[in-house]
Amino acid sequence: MNSQDYDFLSQFLMDSSGLALGSGKEYLLEARLTPLAQSFGLSDFEELVAELRAGRDVRLSSAVTETMTTNETSFFRDKTPFEEIKTQLVPSLLRARSDTKTIRIWCAAASTGQELYSLLMLLDDSFPELMNWKVEVVGTDIAQTMLDRCNEAVYSQFEVQRGLPMPMLVKYFEQVTDGWRVKDSLRNRIQWKQLNLLDEFGHLGTFDFILCRNVLIYFEVQHKRDVLDRMSQILRPDGYLLLGAAESIVGVTDEFSRFRDCRSAVYTPR
Ligand SMILES: C[S@@+](CC[C@H](N)C(=O)[O-])C[C@H]1O[C@@H](n2cnc3c(N)ncnc32)[C@H](O)[C@@H]1O
Repeated sequence: MNSQDYDFLSQFLMDSSGLALGSGKEYLLEARLTPLAQSFGLSDFEELVAELRAGRDVRLSSAVTETMTTNETSFFRDKTPFEEIKTQLVPSLLRARSDTKTIRIWCAAASTGQELYSLLMLLDDSFPELMNWKVEVVGTDIAQTMLDRCNEAVYSQFEVQRGLPMPMLVKYFEQVTDGWRVKDSLRNRIQWKQLNLLDEFGHLGTFDFILCRNVLIYFEVQHKRDVLDRMSQILRPDGYLLLGAAESIVGVTDEFSRFRDCRSAVYTPR
């Protein structure tokens, strides 16, 4: 791959999704985009780059963006955040919202949906009183292919074995031909929407919980700051932002403070 193509693709990915590719990822680009070129009837990687430069095919642009994003996720990923949601964050919100009995939750990089379904299982299992509350749950991702999976809510044996406790599998899933499907009682509670975090998201309304885990880690600092500053405007003053275990806001934004009572990356608006 020549350096002009590499620079073009880096800039394209930065503009389309915020992904900061960095240097030395030629192999990754070719390994992921060559099969994509073939699926679009293009002869090779070079033709794909030429077509992308021409900007004629919106489907190709979206497919390149989606192919280069990382979708790694699992049920109850990292465990501790979910323990702290159960023992500290939800109990505190139940007290704070006892008058309106309304909670709004946004999962901002939903991938295949396992993170948000984990949270809903936890809420349903541990807080039966929420049955009488209005709990609004929104899951978004840049990738339509991921949202299709969220909607379908079918997970392979391998996926359910990574972190999903057996009693949860029995209670909230039904077996289907190609794996395990989340029961409709849980599935129907989530609104899934395609959303690029680089775009405006104020129209989603205000939230008590925002989960934005393991996505900003791929962004450069200006994009991180922009997204976090806009999130601070739609997170309720006593709400919580959860980032990924390896993510920090130090030197990125002053709009949030670390919530010291938790070991996981929980932040509150300043
Ligand atoms: C590594 S997964 C994290 C999934 C989940 N939050 C977790 O922690 O297990 C990152 C997700 O972010 C999505 N993503 C990447 N760039 C995005 C953007 N600009 N806007 C919205 N979602 C994005 C990807 O499609 C992918 O599904």
